[in-house]
Amino acid sequence: KLSLKGKHFLTILDFSTEEIQLLIDKAIELKSKGPGQNPLAGKILAMIFEKNSTRTRMSFEAGMLQLGGHAIYMNNQDSQLGRGETIADTAQVLSQYVNAIMIRTHGHERVEELANHSTVPVINGLTDLAHPCQAIADVLTLTEKKGAVRGLKLAYVGDGNNVANSLMAICAKLGIDFAIAAPESYWPDEEVTSKCKEIAEQTGCKITVTANPVEAVQNADAVYADVWTSMGQEEENEQRLKDFHEYQINEDLVSHAKKDYLFMHCLPAHREEEVTTGVIDGPNSVVFEQAGNRLHAQKALLVELLKD
Ligand code: CP
Ligand code: NVA
Repeated sequence: KLSLKGKHFLTILDFSTEEIQLLIDKAIELKSKGPGQNPLAGKILAMIFEKNSTRTRMSFEAGMLQLGGHAIYMNNQDSQLGRGETIADTAQVLSQYVNAIMIRTHGHERVEELANHSTVPVINGLTDLAHPCQAIADVLTLTEKKGAVRGLKLAYVGDGNNVANSLMAICAKLGIDFAIAAPESYWPDEEVTSKCKEIAEQTGCKITVTANPVEAVQNADAVYADVWTSMGQEEENEQRLKDFHEYQINEDLVSHAKKDYLFMHCLPAHREEEVTTGVIDGPNSVVFEQAGNRLHAQKALLVELLKD
């Protein structure tokens, strides 16, 4: 029987189509049951944040509490990590106190290092390369709004960043056509792209990487935006505002999508930069449903990794 017990959750590409579907099905089940079950009674999650967060922090903590467990927050500023203690030493210490460790950090190699030295499951709460928890919540949202996701088309317009990499991966795994439009120097990670293209051949969907936003959005069921400047790239902000000028998701651009398209954004958003106020606050927007679904997706993940 399929089980994720004891595994690390670092990237979508590490998981099979069936395992990803298991998480989405579990999230739907937990969402419909609501709080009040205690499958993780006595379990503790450590949460390490080396970058800011609202949704990831609150939904993991609320999720653990709703499942009968507990979460402990730790940041870089006031832990010894901020004074140079290694991630390997931290992993070996925390593994003895808690049942799982979630980390949000810069380089993806820090999450891998943590996983290599941890005896408990490590969860990637966002790195520069990937944001797998977001991708699970996004497909949960797509499923709720559109039913079966296989054969849908998701268009991402903007920076080929962590969120884009994980979306491309989950689309490839689940047979969703994925198109990304970005200036060429901002295309998604090459290794991730080539793996996704291979997977897409098996699952029968298409991965398109283009510089043309209209081509990407053409006939899309969902149009997705993220910020142009991610955490850690603040110094590039001015340049990025110029480089992405033609890539705003606005009323003109979404007119090329299907009439009943969904507008999606992982949040936080910058209105009038990557998306107009009219689109993000308009009738097709599901951004707050996505944010809400972070809770259910992560509860599913925690239960599957930690259940007895
Ligand atoms: N979408 C997301 O991960 O939001 P936070 O940065 O607020 O956690
Ligand atoms: N790409 C953004 C996502 C934030 C949730 C960042 O890394 O800052």
